[in-house]
Amino acid sequence: MATALVSQIIGCGSYLPERVVSNQELATRVDTSDEWIVERTGIRQRHIAAEGELTSDLACHAARRALDAAGVLPAEVDLIILATTTPDHTFPATATRVQAMLDTRNGFAFDVQAVCSGFIYALAVADNFVRMGQVGTALVIGAETMSRVLDWGDRTTCVLFGDGAGAVVLRGAVAALPDAQGIPGRGILSTHLHSNGHLYDILRASGGPSWTQTVGHMRMQGKELFRHAVVNLASVVEETLAASGLAQKDIDWLVPHQANLRIIDGTAKKLGLPKSRVVTTIDRHANTSAASIPLALDVAVRDGRIKPGHIVLMEAMGGGVTWGASLVRW
Ligand code: UT7
Repeated sequence: MATALVSQIIGCGSYLPERVVSNQELATRVDTSDEWIVERTGIRQRHIAAEGELTSDLACHAARRALDAAGVLPAEVDLIILATTTPDHTFPATATRVQAMLDTRNGFAFDVQAVCSGFIYALAVADNFVRMGQVGTALVIGAETMSRVLDWGDRTTCVLFGDGAGAVVLRGAVAALPDAQGIPGRGILSTHLHSNGHLYDILRASGGPSWTQTVGHMRMQGKELFRHAVVNLASVVEETLAASGLAQKDIDWLVPHQANLRIIDGTAKKLGLPKSRVVTTIDRHANTSAASIPLALDVAVRDGRIKPGHIVLMEAMGGGVTWGASLVRW
């Protein structure tokens, strides 16, 4: 019988641009207030990339930190997947630029585009390559410069997003047997992806290379998205737990996509999880799209909340619409 492989997350890292923009600062530019933004979203500030600082720069900083944490050299990486909706150029993939910046020629690199669900999609793709035995070590990055696609005159979107990057290193290992409680050994236990293209228009850019030959700006039907997020996230979380034979009580940490504190609280409530077991960074980072989960993960690993053996549930929903979840034994 062939040996079953599992992908283990052996290191993570993140990077935030230096410049912090507060709600108060935004209120001097558009008709909004700190009170409205905090009450409706939970956001207090966001980081914004400096002029000339690109998605690839953010990604590369996060990747180096993840590789350092894992004790892995760039030359050992067989696969780089970069989840982003704000690539440096229309083509080629920003992941190939990161490969060059890390100064490695090993393996292959490509981008994944699933907007705010991008990190979960990229993790699922990398996990499949690793479990198939086609890749030994993979670097999965979520990096965004959302500030470049925002319409800074549109208060319904410009207050919601920020820039940043997070990364994890995956390594293939022989799957361990479940412990005495029946909980599987260390590694990614499962990933679950969904999309509904009929909702393409509720969150999209107003431009694109094939359509207007311009990048365009973000356009979002916030209320519609909110409604779908609550329903879709609850269902994918249920699906994920069922696939692993685990119960809500087995979850140590929920690391959700950081789009809105009210969506995060709603998902945690459905799972019966107290706020103390939910990793929340939206107050400081805002919505960094594909970067939000690996950024939050890195915060909670570095401050010692997420420890070896813990069960970590990650979930996200974004444009497309796309959504997904992944369960990991740390
Ligand atoms: O990460 C990808 C997925 N994204 C999401 O899941 C986002 C989901 N949606 C949301 O998080 C929320 O719908 C928003 C935060 C975007 C909006 O919150 P809301 O409670 O749905 O507000 P709303 O759009 O219904 O707007 C309520 C009012 C409106 O005024 P009127 O029509 O009631 O007079 C808006 O014009 O708030 C107004 N408004 C603002 N006021 C002050 C909208 N944006 C702002 C603002 N400052 N920035």
